[in-house]
Amino acid sequence: MTIASAGDFRDAARRRIPRFLFDYADGGAGAEETLRRNVSDLSGIALRQRVLRDVAAIDLTTTLFGRTIALPVALGPVGISGMYARRGELQAARAARAAGIPTCLSTVSICPIEEVAAAADPFWFQLYVIRDRAFMKDLIATAKTAGAEALVFTVDMPVPGPRYRDAHSGMSGPNAPLRRLLQAMGKPRWAWDVGVRGRPHALGNLKPVLGNRSGLNDYMGWLGANFDPSIQWKDLDWIRAEWNGPLIIKGILDPEDAREAAAIGADGIIVSNHGGRQLDGVPSTAHALPAIADAVGDALTILADGGVRSGLDVVRMLALGARGVLLGRAWVYALAAAGEAGVAKLLDLIAKEMTVAMTLTGVNRIGAIDADILAESGAR
Ligand code: GLV
Repeated sequence: MTIASAGDFRDAARRRIPRFLFDYADGGAGAEETLRRNVSDLSGIALRQRVLRDVAAIDLTTTLFGRTIALPVALGPVGISGMYARRGELQAARAARAAGIPTCLSTVSICPIEEVAAAADPFWFQLYVIRDRAFMKDLIATAKTAGAEALVFTVDMPVPGPRYRDAHSGMSGPNAPLRRLLQAMGKPRWAWDVGVRGRPHALGNLKPVLGNRSGLNDYMGWLGANFDPSIQWKDLDWIRAEWNGPLIIKGILDPEDAREAAAIGADGIIVSNHGGRQLDGVPSTAHALPAIADAVGDALTILADGGVRSGLDVVRMLALGARGVLLGRAWVYALAAAGEAGVAKLLDLIAKEMTVAMTLTGVNRIGAIDADILAESGAR
């Protein structure tokens, strides 16, 4: 089938990769209400069509944290994405670099920082709150040495959310390794390309603590055992002392928390509910974003994620108050379906869809996208 959208990549990914991997990326927490809301609230935002406004030259470039980038989009951090295609984080980073946008690597990636940083430009690194502060310090230092231009500090996972699909699929739960093996045997192309040729499957950045054990076996266990729920806003002084570049706090959904982020000297925030993977039942990011932008839009660079599946969705997020958008599932579907070429194609589709959306809302540059392009009835 010809691929024309992120939804097509999703269908193709489902056919190509074992179920436990598809469901891990595709699923969310609990009954997946928030996951669905992220998508439906965003796609429900109506735009104001404007015509005859000379939109012959549309400029999609923008500046984030001092760098001019080709689109107001970054590849967001997704754990174990290196399992979705052979050395998957590396392939995705190459596609992002060619498209002129940042790659943000997850702490719990398969490919380690050095491997991805060499292929990404700009390179951002995502850090989790882990108990072992000395290890966190080392990760920050490694990211800095590798040339990370921004540190994305995730604060919405002091404990992992309940992922029903993971228990059902064999990602976790009884007999998980055997169930994963059986599923992999049903996807021979993936099994050869990633399962065999894509080794090692260890979590590259966690080697100092996990060694070469398979990332999948230790993944959720390590997350649950090592995340630190005791962290508080004042502890972020510690991160600030270790990292003097742009600091972006990921996982803000409330204007009060956004003000706290500004008060501790963050440079940016990502309005996020972790793709509906943490507390099911919280509002969508499209719903939460405008009030946060009102509260701190002048003090911080606001990024957002959650439910973005098209260039039109990117424009919607910007109209709601974001300066840039992170893709999560969309790029992982594309990676799983077609590797680097898939991610490249997705980014091209997004750029083209943004151009159409900007043309027909009568704006020719990213900075001109604001609430004015929302239809009055526009909201949800
Ligand atoms: C990890 O960040 C996850 O959402 O599974």
